[in-house]
Amino acid sequence: MSSSYGISQYPDVPAIEKRLETLTATPIRTLTPEQLAEYHAWYEQHTPSSKRAAAEAEAVIPGGVQHNLALNEPWPLAITRAEGAHLHDADGNRYIDFLQAGGPTVLGSNHPAVREAVFDLLHECGPVTGMLHPAETKLAKLIHDFMPDVHKFRMLGSGTEAVMAAIRVARAHTGKTHIIKVGGAYHGWSDQVVYGLRIPGSGSLEAAGIPAPALAATAETAPGDLAALRAKLTANAENGGTAAVLLEPVGPESGTHPAHREFNAAVRELCDEFGTLLVFDEVVTGFRLGMGGAQGYYGVAPDLTVFGKCVAGGYPAAGGVGGREEVMAAFAGGLTAVGKRALTGGTLSANPLSCTAGYATLVEMDRQDAPAKAGAAGDRLRTGLDALIGKYELPYVTYNFGSIVHLHTSGVLHLSLTDPEFFDKLGPRMDMLGHMSMAFAAEGVITLAGSRIYTSMADTDEVVDDALAAFERVFAKVPAA
Ligand SMILES: Cc1ncc(COP(=O)(O)O)c(C=O)c1O
Repeated sequence: MSSSYGISQYPDVPAIEKRLETLTATPIRTLTPEQLAEYHAWYEQHTPSSKRAAAEAEAVIPGGVQHNLALNEPWPLAITRAEGAHLHDADGNRYIDFLQAGGPTVLGSNHPAVREAVFDLLHECGPVTGMLHPAETKLAKLIHDFMPDVHKFRMLGSGTEAVMAAIRVARAHTGKTHIIKVGGAYHGWSDQVVYGLRIPGSGSLEAAGIPAPALAATAETAPGDLAALRAKLTANAENGGTAAVLLEPVGPESGTHPAHREFNAAVRELCDEFGTLLVFDEVVTGFRLGMGGAQGYYGVAPDLTVFGKCVAGGYPAAGGVGGREEVMAAFAGGLTAVGKRALTGGTLSANPLSCTAGYATLVEMDRQDAPAKAGAAGDRLRTGLDALIGKYELPYVTYNFGSIVHLHTSGVLHLSLTDPEFFDKLGPRMDMLGHMSMAFAAEGVITLAGSRIYTSMADTDEVVDDALAAFERVFAKVPAA
């Protein structure tokens, strides 16, 4: 069983923070309206089928896209084929896939080892029965083998559901009320965690449609701010206590706000001091950083771990919670379970298809040492991007946690709400993200909103070098300061 991790060198977080501060204090360096018009002309000429598909979708789908990450300037690309490192659109254009559906496909898209396992399952049993299937147990056992602190595993339909369940079981187990998250983090879209989303300190800014009481027991603290976390835990102790601290071990939004290496261990100590459960959201990092996850990499044992994405290998219904035996006991399942119990459910939870896909994916990832290979691709890409940023004297900031590569060109997610110019800066910087994302795609690279990149095992040196050439074509266009 592979125990290697995809991070060859931990990012120099203090240096990155300084560069990000400079980025947000510097006027934006973006493409001109004429250059944007040329890119729009490229889309007109090369993506007519996507344009038509987008117009049809617009009529029946709010905003024209079902998935928040689907590129939408000037229109979403209609992707009809995915294989290995590449996506192909309805007009036959090929793109390097650095979106990776938001992260689950560390093997590359549509890996045959997973597909064949799914076909076999479908022939035998179909996707769902509502009864016990051996794949459920095989997957739970495998997760425990990779992450020994995950004694038991409750599979659910998505990362969002898994976060909801983790919060519920933490409350049931501790009898405490509050939860604390690190500001800027996305932990799915359930009521309680749509707070402090994306930009630290943003509180309920994005909480349209959520009644204030649903957020009343959620607090955020600034990334890396242990003193604020202690203060919040202390205040909560007088008022119902803190059931859980919920965090992404590499920092909010896959490390968009990168965590200092010692942060997780320090939070573990604080949680122990206050009798609070530590919940690691490993929806992205689980298996991507290494088969032992972020908990293995940092050497910090959470009480609960939230899973998603890789846990079903890119197939539907990807979510679950795992953790210590005595905490997980409150999840006892079945219609006849009695006593104090954290209720979960789901018609499609732990269906044979998701479990089979997840099991086949994790076995193959381990066999191929996929996290290390994907991490090496991330290193090569980040090194190349750094060189290009230097060559073209751009203020952009890039760094990576193995196969999670950040490329901050506008710094929008690093704006500070205490900056008096926050709202003046927000719009143009948000627009810039969309423009960069559009330009990268026209040059042949699909990213996550122009600022985040997930690499996979399928990203050979040749693929990465092709991508760097595409990034360079965009960077070279940006006018000098
Ligand atoms: C860190 C993190 N937590 C939770 C979620 C929610 O997972 P899902 O999209 O499966 O609901 C995501 C999704 O991107 C995520 O990145």
